[in-house]
Amino acid sequence: MAGVVAYYSRTWKTRFVAQQLAKALGCRAIEISDLKKRRGPIAYMRAARDARGKKRTKIEPKTIDTAGYDLICIGTPVWWSYPTPAIMTLLDNLDIKGKDVVIFATADSTPELAIDILTKRVEEKGGSVVGSFFCLKGSDEERMKAVQDFAKRFKKQNRSQKKVIT
Ligand SMILES: Cc1cc2nc3c(=O)[nH]c(=O)nc-3n(C[C@H](O)[C@H](O)[C@H](O)COP(=O)(O)O)c2cc1C
Repeated sequence: MAGVVAYYSRTWKTRFVAQQLAKALGCRAIEISDLKKRRGPIAYMRAARDARGKKRTKIEPKTIDTAGYDLICIGTPVWWSYPTPAIMTLLDNLDIKGKDVVIFATADSTPELAIDILTKRVEEKGGSVVGSFFCLKGSDEERMKAVQDFAKRFKKQNRSQKKVIT
């Protein structure tokens, strides 16, 4: 099975999780950059507002060629309970029709709504969410354990049953 992990990360927590997940599942990891300034106090407030308003943004790369992949993993930090504009934009641009998708989020404490929003968006685009997980505020060791636990459950699942692993 060929897979790819696409993620956005502002302060590298999601990047760490994405890289661990890619390693655990034997996938390639691709970082999505948001070309809008996201550093500094004003940018922080704008970031939160943009996320809650489901604003889109300019990203690089604009999309990923999913033709060669069976599994697409998509990761985002949570901003004001929402997925980031970079990942919402990527999903707009991504061809995931008929693909299995794993969603993950990193957050201080409130990942659920962002996962729900991404799940709905993946389904709207014809993908099926076959797993999701999140990592809350903590150490890299805790994040690594969350990824390993998810990857173990995910690999064990009977793929023919298309069970959703969380
Ligand atoms: C603008 C902004 C808004 C945030 N809002 C939330 C939130 O509503 N709930 C939450 O649990 N964490 C929130 N966080 C914390 C991040 O989701 C968390 O630190 C995440 O792991 C950062 O990922 P990153 O290092 O990959 O950028 C917010 C962070 C930022 C920058």
